[in-house]
Amino acid sequence: MFLVLGADYYPEHWHEERWAKDVDLMSKAGFNTVRLAEFAWSKLEPKKGEYNFEWLDKVIDMLAAKGIKSIIGTPTAAPPPWIVKAHPDILRIDGDGKRAAEGTRKNYCANNPNYIEHSKRIVEKMTLHYKDDPNVMGWQTDNEFGCHSSELCYCTNCITAFRDWLRKKYKSLDELNKACGLVFWGQEYGSWDEIFPPRPPFTMQSPSLNLEWRRFASDSWVRYQQIQIDMIRKHAPHQLITHNLMGLYKELDYFKLAEPLDLVSFDYYPKWAGQVDLFASAMSHDIMRSLKKKPYWIMELQSGAVKTQVAPAPQPGEIRLWTIQSVARGADGTIYFRWRTCRFGAEEYWHGILDHDGIPRRRYSEVRKVSEELHKAASCIEGTSINPQVAFTLVYDNIWALDLEVGYEGKNYYGIHSWKPALDYYSPLYARNVLVDFVNPASEDMSGYKALFVPSLMLLNEKVDKNLKSYVKEGGILVATPRTGAKDWNNNVVEEPLPGRLSDLFGMTIVEYTGLPGDMKVEFRTTKAELGIEKTFAGVGWAELLQPAKAKVAAHYQAGVYKGKPAATVNSFGDGAAIYIGTFADREFCSALVDWLIRKRKIEKVLPSAPGLEATKRSSTENEIVFALNHSDKALEVPCNGREYQDLITGEKITGSLTVGGIDARILKIIK
Ligand code: GLA
Ligand code: ZN
Repeated sequence: MFLVLGADYYPEHWHEERWAKDVDLMSKAGFNTVRLAEFAWSKLEPKKGEYNFEWLDKVIDMLAAKGIKSIIGTPTAAPPPWIVKAHPDILRIDGDGKRAAEGTRKNYCANNPNYIEHSKRIVEKMTLHYKDDPNVMGWQTDNEFGCHSSELCYCTNCITAFRDWLRKKYKSLDELNKACGLVFWGQEYGSWDEIFPPRPPFTMQSPSLNLEWRRFASDSWVRYQQIQIDMIRKHAPHQLITHNLMGLYKELDYFKLAEPLDLVSFDYYPKWAGQVDLFASAMSHDIMRSLKKKPYWIMELQSGAVKTQVAPAPQPGEIRLWTIQSVARGADGTIYFRWRTCRFGAEEYWHGILDHDGIPRRRYSEVRKVSEELHKAASCIEGTSINPQVAFTLVYDNIWALDLEVGYEGKNYYGIHSWKPALDYYSPLYARNVLVDFVNPASEDMSGYKALFVPSLMLLNEKVDKNLKSYVKEGGILVATPRTGAKDWNNNVVEEPLPGRLSDLFGMTIVEYTGLPGDMKVEFRTTKAELGIEKTFAGVGWAELLQPAKAKVAAHYQAGVYKGKPAATVNSFGDGAAIYIGTFADREFCSALVDWLIRKRKIEKVLPSAPGLEATKRSSTENEIVFALNHSDKALEVPCNGREYQDLITGEKITGSLTVGGIDARILKIIK
C-alpha cells in the first residue's frame, strides 16, 4: 500500500477530551495510519485476566471516522508491574548475575515460560478482540527487539535452553568439543549440564562458543516473536504483521527476524548528534529494504529533538527531507515518532510533532506540507521499487564474529568498527548516487548484480563459498577486504593458507599479516594496468601480504615490513574477476576503486554527484521516478544530461539543468 502516513499515538497519555482534537489535526495533516498501544499492557490488562479494551476501541473508532487506520503494537515490550510481582523470574539476568530493573521496558527474558504464557495470552486476547475490526490493519510485534542491550540473558531458563540448542545442533558432546575447540585451556565438556554460556570478559573464552551463544540469543528472540506471529496468524490471518527494526543495530540476525513478517518497519532517527551521518543513514535504509527486498515502512521517524545530552532539534525542512528520503530509498510511507511530546516518563524530552502543550507549530506545518506533497505524487510512486546494480554481502554471524575478536584492551584486533569495511565502500557509491542492495550470500541469487562487495566476510561455509564462486564464474566482479575466508562457520581459523577455500577464487594466498596499531598507516600504490589508476593510497588497522598464484598484482606496499610486496590482487575466474584488497584502505582508494568499477561495468549513477546531493530512483514498468535530495543548506544545480523531468510536486517541466534548494527535495518523473 502506498502511501502510509501517520504518527505513533499514545492516547493513554492524555485526557480523553483531547482525543477529538488530535484526530482532527491528524486528519488535516493527511494522515491515514496510526500506531497504538505498544506499551499499554497495564491499561489493557490492569490485573491478571481483567481486560479493558474500551479506551482503545474508542480511539480506533474515532480515528476510523476520519479515515485513519490503526496498527496495534502487541504490548509485550513493557511488562506491567503485576506480572513482575507475580513472576520476578521474568526479569533478565545479565552476564554479571545482576537482575534487570523493575519499573521499565525491555527488562524481560525471551525464554521465560511465565512471560511466554502471559505474552501468548495478551496477544490472543487482543487478536480475538480486533480480528474483525476493518479499521485495524495489522500488528507490530513487541517493540524494537534487542533495544537497550536486551539481547542476552543468563537466567536458568536461558542456560537450559542454550544446552538444548547445542544438543540439537551437535548431537554429541564430542562434536561440540571439537567444533568449538574446547580442548584449549582444557574446557571440554563431559556432560551437557556442565555447559554455561560465555560471560564477560568474553575475550577469555572460546570464540566459537561465544558465537554460538550469540546465535542462540538471536534465535531466542526470533522464536519469541514467532510465538506471537503464530497466534496472530491463527486468529487474524488477513491482518498484516510487522516489527520495528533499528537500521544498523547488529546484535540480532535481522534476516531471520524479518523472514516471517509481512513487511519490515524501520525506526529512523537521523539527528542523534548535531550532524546527520549521511552515509550511515542511507545505508541503514538500504539494509532495511534489503531484508525482504521489498518496500518497507518507517514506523518511527524522528519529528523533534531526541533525548541526548544536547538534543539538537531538526532544522526547518529536515523532517520533510527525511520523509521524502525514506520514500526515496524504498519505503512506502512514514509514521512519525511521536504525535505529541509526553509530559512525564522516561521520554519527557523525546520530542514529537507537537510539543508538550499540544499546540501545532512549525513541525506540524512541515509534516502537513510534506504529506500534501506526497499525496500528490503518490499515484506515480505506487508500485515502483528500487533496483540496484551493486550489492554488499551482509552476514550477521560474521559481524558478531568480528565483534568478538577483541584483545585485552577491548579493541578489535583490526582497530575497526565492524560496519567499517562495508561503510568505506558504501560511502563513495552513495556519493555517486549509485543504488545498493545488501544480500545474504548463503541464500540469495546474486547473479543480477554488476558488482558485489564482500566486506571482510571472515566466516565461510559451503553454501556461501559456492554462491560467491558461481557469482564470479558467471561474469560478476567481486571485491573483498581483509580476513575474507579466514575462518570456518564455527569461528575457527581455517587450516589451509588464507584466504582458505577462497584461495582459488582470488588466485593467491596470504603468506603473512600484521596489525597496524593506533594511527599507524601503510602506504600502497595501485597499478594502472589492473585498477586504471597509478596512485598512492593508505591503509589502516591491518595489512596482509598477498602472494599471487594466478592473480595479477593490483597494488604494492610502499613502506613498512611489506615494502614492495603485493597489497591487492585481481584474479580472472570464469567469466568474471575477484579483487582482494589486503588492508583497510582509505576512502580515497575506495572512491577510486568505485569509479573504476562504475566505468568498467557501466553502473548507473542516478544523477551526477554534487556535495550534499542524494539521488535515488524508483521504477516500475510504467514509471521511473527520480528523487533529488539536498542535505546541504546551499542550493545546488545538476545537469539533466539530455533527460526531461516533470516535478511531481509543482508540475513544472525541467530540461537542461535541475536546481534543488538547500534542505530541500524534489520528486521527478522521467518523461524522456
Ligand atoms: C525507540 C522506541 C520508542 C522510543 C523512541 C525514542 O525507537 O521504539 O518507543 O523510545 O526510541 O525516540
Ligand atoms: Zn533468560
